[in-house]
Amino acid sequence: MPSTDADTWGGSPFVKFDNVQKSYDGESLVVKGFNLYIDQGEFITLLGPSGSGKSTVLMMMAGFEHPTHGEIILKGQPISQLPPHKRGIGLVFQNYALFPHMTVAENLAFPLQVRNLPKSDIETKVKRALDMVRLGEFGDRRPAQLSGGQQQRVAVARALVFEPELVLMDEPLGALDKNLREEMQYEIKHIHEDLGVTMIYVTHDQSEALTMSDRIAVFNDGIVQQLASPQESMSVPQTHLLPSSLVKTIDCAERSRTLTGNNVRSRCQRPNYHCKPRSCWCSGR
Ligand SMILES: Nc1ncnc2c1ncn2[C@@H]1O[C@H](COP(=O)(O)OP(=O)(O)OP(=O)(O)O)[C@@H](O)[C@H]1O
Ligand SMILES: [Mg+2]
Repeated sequence: MPSTDADTWGGSPFVKFDNVQKSYDGESLVVKGFNLYIDQGEFITLLGPSGSGKSTVLMMMAGFEHPTHGEIILKGQPISQLPPHKRGIGLVFQNYALFPHMTVAENLAFPLQVRNLPKSDIETKVKRALDMVRLGEFGDRRPAQLSGGQQQRVAVARALVFEPELVLMDEPLGALDKNLREEMQYEIKHIHEDLGVTMIYVTHDQSEALTMSDRIAVFNDGIVQQLASPQESMSVPQTHLLPSSLVKTIDCAERSRTLTGNNVRSRCQRPNYHCKPRSCWCSGR
């Protein structure tokens, strides 16, 4: 699982939201000052109630909305002026938005065709993506001939097929029943660990956030109220507000590493630190 030293992009993390604000009507702020550093390969979840501004943050990251103030920095470069198709970000939203008139394979080929990949590459990548979500046999079907969970798998495959470094998922499992939801949680997490892709995931389901995330940003009323690992989130009441400006990337010497399969797991001996293979975050407390 790739993890990148914090100084790869001139001291900038993989993604940096720098005091991002958003107003739709020019008066009230929906996002009030969003600060967040995300390391490469991290799975970060925005957890918050309806209307708290989670989708707005993702839409700004994707490029479909523009910050009113502040800047989003991807690999050291400000991206606010960059159109969505030049950001190279994979997207999965709650309504799968597969093209109904195309087969599953054609749906997956589409992002590759718009990037002008050669036909042979497209076939290879589509096959690999379908196998990844265990739908190898379903390439010739149309979306209407699939179950909800299968359609959602296609949506996940389509977001990953062009091998983006960053994937945004906005309540991708909201329409699924409990069993399918749990199965897909496992599958998305597995793909994340396998590919090392950076994920920004939105949900208002606390258990989903706890199961899947490296860190959870509790988002409410346009600000991050708490930023912590799942373990900390469980032990610290959500009323304990943690200003995101206190969150720092630090080098932590006091860590142990274990190898599970191909995954290195790092654990910091100090409380309130959350480790990635090559860097640690301080929760600021
Ligand atoms: N295009 C828009 N124009 C005007 N207001 C908007 C627009 N999109 C969202 N809003 C408003 O911004 C606020 C935040 O909306 P947003 O969709 O970001 O919330 P959310 O946290 O994703 O909620 P949910 O969990 O219900 O999806 C809401 O009050 C919403 O009504
Ligand atoms: Mg939303």
